Amino acid sequence: MSTKVAVVTGSNKGIGLAIVRALCKQYQGDVYLTARDVGRGQEAVESLSSEGLKAMFHQLDINDLNSITTAAAYFKEKYGGVDVLVNNAGIAFKVADTATFDVQAEVTLKTNFFATRDMLTHFLPIIRAGGRVVNVSSFVGSRTLNQCSPELQQRFRSEDITEEELVGLMQQFVDKAKKGEHKQGGWPETAYGVSKTGLTTLSMILARRISKERRNDGILLNACCPGWVRTDMAGDKAPKSPDEGAITPVYLALLPAGATDPHGKFVSDKEVQPW
Ligand SMILES: NC(=O)c1ccc[n+]([C@@H]2O[C@H](COP(=O)([O-])OP(=O)(O)OC[C@H]3O[C@@H](n4cnc5c(N)ncnc54)[C@H](OP(=O)(O)O)[C@@H]3O)[C@@H](O)[C@H]2O)c1
Repeated sequence: MSTKVAVVTGSNKGIGLAIVRALCKQYQGDVYLTARDVGRGQEAVESLSSEGLKAMFHQLDINDLNSITTAAAYFKEKYGGVDVLVNNAGIAFKVADTATFDVQAEVTLKTNFFATRDMLTHFLPIIRAGGRVVNVSSFVGSRTLNQCSPELQQRFRSEDITEEELVGLMQQFVDKAKKGEHKQGGWPETAYGVSKTGLTTLSMILARRISKERRNDGILLNACCPGWVRTDMAGDKAPKSPDEGAITPVYLALLPAGATDPHGKFVSDKEVQPW
């Protein structure tokens, strides 16, 4: 049987690194720590090595389409595809950041929504039968959903929203933010929140598509929240350690062979959450 392979984006630190650590301990296959910066990535691989864990490394900057396609081609060539993909890479402006809201909207949506979508566009076709795809979203995306206009909420919750419509809505948020018109458009004042509302909705859309187009392949795709975790992003007051934050993403990455759910859900503390 061919070697199985797991890939985690943005895993040189924080929750991503903790996910790689847990997979190195629990996954029967090769585990790839990926990072946009080769130096930071290799340092992280060495830190795991000093814990007695063996992670492999590949460069992967999700904001760079060439980096995504190069990595996808590498996994296709070396393993024939990917068995576990965890889209963990993400950014958040600090509350104290002085960047204007329109800049925060464009930059945050670029990585957390559009670039993560690029990852899914190029990696879903190479996810092997029995594969698991986990998108690290956030409870902030659920809270933000509830702060959107009733019309937007209806679209994000609908079963018939298409990927194209969702991409159009995310772009509309960025465009309206540039004109200072996002509030009139029914959007709340949170770029990070909207990016994660988009990512959770995208996960649900893609899961429905997989169920239709790859019915017999047993692939499970979910979005999740790691909880509030002590990392460079969330600061040192958060209650969970990175290893604790990794528990739900790793649970979804390791759903046993033959499992049929959860699929297309938003999961927190290993429980499906209302959307
Ligand atoms: N911490 C929390 O409380 C919390 C709560 C809910 C959800 N989340 C989500 O959990 C995920 C991980 O967050 P974290 O708290 O671990 O944050 P973090 O410590 O800031 O780590 C973020 C990781 O993403 C990487 N990254 C950013 N942009 C990238 C890109 N374009 N390509 C590849 N990698 C990129 C970073 O790489 P560099 O080192 O190169 O910057 C870093 O490795 C994020 O999606 C975040 O939104 C976190």
